[in-house]
Amino acid sequence: MKQKNAIYPGSFDPITKGHMDIIKRSAKMFDKLYVAVLTNSSKSCCFTIEERMEMMRKCTSDMQNVEVCTFSGLLAEYAKKIDVVTSIRGLRAVTDFEYEFQMALTNKKINKELETIFLTTNSKYMYLSSSIVKEIARNGGDISDFVPSVVLDDIKNRLQRKD
Ligand code: COA
Repeated sequence: MKQKNAIYPGSFDPITKGHMDIIKRSAKMFDKLYVAVLTNSSKSCCFTIEERMEMMRKCTSDMQNVEVCTFSGLLAEYAKKIDVVTSIRGLRAVTDFEYEFQMALTNKKINKELETIFLTTNSKYMYLSSSIVKEIARNGGDISDFVPSVVLDDIKNRLQRKD
C-alpha cells in the first residue's frame, strides 16, 4: 500500500515551539513527514544550514517517522523529486494567509500534484516567530518558553556570541 507522506518546509531560523507543534501534529497525521530546511533563501538566515539542520535533528530525534532533509530551489520541484504530494504549513493569523495562499497557488501551478494543507497554529504560539526569538536572545532575554529545551543553549550561545 502507498504510504501517506508529507513535507513541512521552512527556514527554521531558528526552530521554535510553534514549529514543533506543527511537526508533532503532522507526524500523527502522516506515515512519514519530511521536515525540509531551506538552504538558499531570499531571506538571509542567521543560523547556517548545518546549525538549523542539527537543531531540527535534535528536536525530532525521538520521532520515528520524521526525516530531516534540506532543499534549495523550488519546493514544488523538490516535492516531486522525493515523491511527496502534500505540503504542510502553519497559519498563525490572517496576516499569514495572503503570503501562504500565494505560495500554495504558485506551488500548485509548478507541480499540479502538490496540495498544501494548512494547520492552525496552537493559540499559545500565535504571536511567536523566529525573529522574536532572535531579538529576545540577542538582548539577553529568556527564550525558554519559546524554543524546545534541547536547543535552548545552542540558540543562546550562538546569538549572544559577538561575531
Ligand atoms: N508557529 C510559530 N511561528 C511560526 C509558525 C508557527 N506554527 N509557522 C511559521 N512561523 C514563523 C517563523 O518563526 C518565521 O518567523 P520569521 O518571519 O520571524 O523568521 C515565519 O513564520 C516563517 O518561517 P518558516 O515557517 O520557517 O517559513 P519561511 O517563510 O521562512 O519559509 C518556504 C517558507 C521555505 C516554505 C518557502 O520560502 C519556500 O518554499 N521557498 C523555496 C522557493 C519556493 O519554492 N517558493 C515558492 C514558489 S515562488
